[in-house]
Amino acid sequence: MMIAQLELAAMSNPVLHASATMKALVYHSAGKIAWEDKPRPAIQHAGDAIIRMTTSTICGTDLHILKGDLPSVTGGRILGHEGIGVIEQVGTGVSEFHVGDKVIISCVTACLKCDFCRKGMYSHCRHGGWILGNTLDGTQAEYVRIPHADGSLYSFPPGGDEEALLMLSDILPTGFECGVLNGQVKPGDTVAIVGAGPVGLAVLMTAQFYSPAAIFIVDLDEKRLAVAKQFGATTPINSSDGHAAYHVMELTEGAGVDVAIEAVGLPDTFDICQAIVAAGGRIANVGVHGKPVELHLEKLWDRNISLTTRLVDTITTPMLLKMVHSGKLQPQKLVTHRFAMNDIMKAYDTFGNAADDGALKVLLKNDGSR
Ligand SMILES: NC(=O)c1ccc[n+]([C@@H]2O[C@H](COP(=O)([O-])OP(=O)(O)OC[C@H]3O[C@@H](n4cnc5c(N)ncnc54)[C@H](O)[C@@H]3O)[C@@H](O)[C@H]2O)c1
Ligand SMILES: [Zn+2]
Ligand SMILES: [Zn+2]
Repeated sequence: MMIAQLELAAMSNPVLHASATMKALVYHSAGKIAWEDKPRPAIQHAGDAIIRMTTSTICGTDLHILKGDLPSVTGGRILGHEGIGVIEQVGTGVSEFHVGDKVIISCVTACLKCDFCRKGMYSHCRHGGWILGNTLDGTQAEYVRIPHADGSLYSFPPGGDEEALLMLSDILPTGFECGVLNGQVKPGDTVAIVGAGPVGLAVLMTAQFYSPAAIFIVDLDEKRLAVAKQFGATTPINSSDGHAAYHVMELTEGAGVDVAIEAVGLPDTFDICQAIVAAGGRIANVGVHGKPVELHLEKLWDRNISLTTRLVDTITTPMLLKMVHSGKLQPQKLVTHRFAMNDIMKAYDTFGNAADDGALKVLLKNDGSR
């Protein structure tokens, strides 16, 4: 009787048939990652969903992790905090999503109930925040467990463009919230974005909601600067001569910029922002920093500036989803490379050598092949 019941359960539950392992990108220590077998995730709490990934990608933050910049990421962790997939299983407490639903996974997990969530600061959720691919196994894998699924997933709209909507997991809300909203970009402003990686380009796209008069964009990589021009930057500036701040000051006749947005995460690029912010201006830091920066209060104390930092809250994701789905934002243009998920090591090489390969967003497609 017991055996018959188990067989019946296995027949009605495809997960019990499936192999108990999966392939995943595992971080071991600084500079060491591998594509290897890991146990498949299983439901642990009522609010969990298990998702079969269809598309994932690599973020600049993963490169910081690889450099050893983020001590919260320890050996054995599956990386990745962006992706789209199909729900395989839900816990009994999940009410908004069902098996078979296609979903966009947010890089930030939100319980929707704690004090931080209730003030819209999901990034500091007491039961979530940025945990995926950080303190919890992430999305660069065939399957992922998403806790607090009701607050951490978004329905994939019918007829949606998977490559465009993937950018809602992280870079679009990051660029918009940490860069544009925190920098208080206004009509007529002069804005400088330091860093033309996917995040800097997401700042560039979403800054244009507010019609700034000029947008300077600074990077070392001519190819990325050329892409930025296509996305609406008025003045690309190559900083490889070490004089980016001088060029910005010259172009603004010594005034500097109303908003300086740091989208790299290095002391040098933070210094550029400090050097070019106009009196009354804002510095909005977006980059993840692994090293201390020097705050030049001896120059800034009387400049009436403000400085903000932010971990993306993803509170604007529903609005951005409408902008992408309507075609008003076209972040799919950032996709330069596509790999099968099991070629992820090649994808890391390509993204890590972005300047040589002309890479922006590298997509990982999970087609089930190994
Ligand atoms: N705050 C958040 O919530 C959040 C979320 C996601 C990503 N991030 C961070 O945003 C940053 C950008 O992410 P990304 O995916 O675009 O990374 P990326 O590595 O693809 O891009 C960084 C860009 O900076 C440029 N750069 C490097 N040194 C420079 C210099 N000295 N002068 C000018 N440009 C220089 C590089 O050429 C590159 O184009 C990273 O630090 C990432 O960790 C922050
Ligand atoms: Zn990221
Ligand atoms: Zn919460």
